[in-house]
Parts: sequence; C-alpha cells; structure tokens
Amino acid sequence: MSLLQPDHDCTLCPRLAAFRQENRSAFPDKFNAPVPSFGGQEARLLIVGLAPGLRGANFTGRPFTGDYAGDLLYQTLLDFGFAKGAYKADPQDGLELIDCRITNAVRCVPPENKPVGAEITACQPFLKNQIENMPNLKVILTLGLVAHNATLRASGHKQSAFKFTHNGAHDLGGGHIMIGSYHCSRYNTNTRRLTEEMFREVFQHIKSVL
Ligand code: URA
Repeated sequence: MSLLQPDHDCTLCPRLAAFRQENRSAFPDKFNAPVPSFGGQEARLLIVGLAPGLRGANFTGRPFTGDYAGDLLYQTLLDFGFAKGAYKADPQDGLELIDCRITNAVRCVPPENKPVGAEITACQPFLKNQIENMPNLKVILTLGLVAHNATLRASGHKQSAFKFTHNGAHDLGGGHIMIGSYHCSRYNTNTRRLTEEMFREVFQHIKSVL
C-alpha cells in the first residue's frame, strides 16, 4: 500500500515552506523537508507527535530523532519492546521499531514549535491516509493536545468528541483505541507535568490493550 506523502518541497503551508527555505539556506547539509513516518505500516501501534523540532527531526529526517523528546520516547520504546538496537539520535543508528510506527500531526518544522490551525488542517490528509492504511492498527498514542485533536479529526470525529486526559483511552471505532499522553517534551519533563513513571504507565496501558 503506497501512502499519500507530502512533497519534498510541499507548499501547502506558505509559512512553513518559507521557514524551510530559510533553514535550507542556513543549514544546507541538513534534511530540511517534511519528515516521513518511521516504522512499518503493519504495526499495531501508531504514535502521533506534534511536529519536527528544528535541530532534531528537521535536521535528521526521522521523527523525534535528535530532539530532546526523542531521548525519553525511544528509551521507553526500547524498554517496552517496541524497538530494538540502540538509539543514538542519528537516523543511521540502526534502531528498528517493532510493531510500532511514529508520525507527526504536522510534517514540517514550524517556527517556535508552534503550528497554526491552518497548518494542522493542511497536514491532516497525510495523517488520515496513514491511519486508513495501517491494516493491523489497534492503538494510537497521541502525544499532547495537538496530536489528540488532529487524530480525532483524521478519524472522522469532531474535536470535541473526546476530551484529552493523560492516559485516557477512547474508542475511535474501526477497531482503533486512542490513548493520550502529555507530550514528552523538555518543558513537560522539566516541569514534571510528565514524569518517566507517568510515561511508563501509558506504555503499560498500551501493552494491556494490545
Ligand atoms: N520531534 C518530533 O518529531 N515530534 C515531536 O512532536 C517533537 C519532536
């Protein structure tokens, strides 16, 4: 099954396309393009993040790779058997995901890590298409409110259908359960809105559903 992918030079979001041009000039040897998903389409778990970080996924071309949030995410995936190998913040580190795929609600890096509503909407067809083309998909883990709302809309629900709660589960229909977590961002972990233990509880929950 081939997936709908944003073009390498996607122009759906003028602000993000302009930011990409700036970054291509400033950092010509970095990835600087819409970041593709990582992991197999046959996975039962899909993790939806927010958007690539400037010096992380936008530089490396792999979701969460090189981003502060990736340290906790990939370590937790390794601990729970959703990944094997070693995470070295480098897309050539050989890390493999097991029964898990990672994507972002917005594929391009937004200025200050904040996509605007129109950008989340413009990127929605890619998320929708991906959800529809994962034949074994069972659990969607959404990291943060933007991912929660984008996943609801991509699954044909109103944003108001289910309120975000940390570690809350919602039946989206079609055999898909959505579980929400606070985003594993530097801000959330430094302020202890999200602790390692809380994040592990989310993965225990996911395991129990799978
Ligand atoms: N990097 C990503 O790829 N996604 C996020 O949500 C945060 C950092």
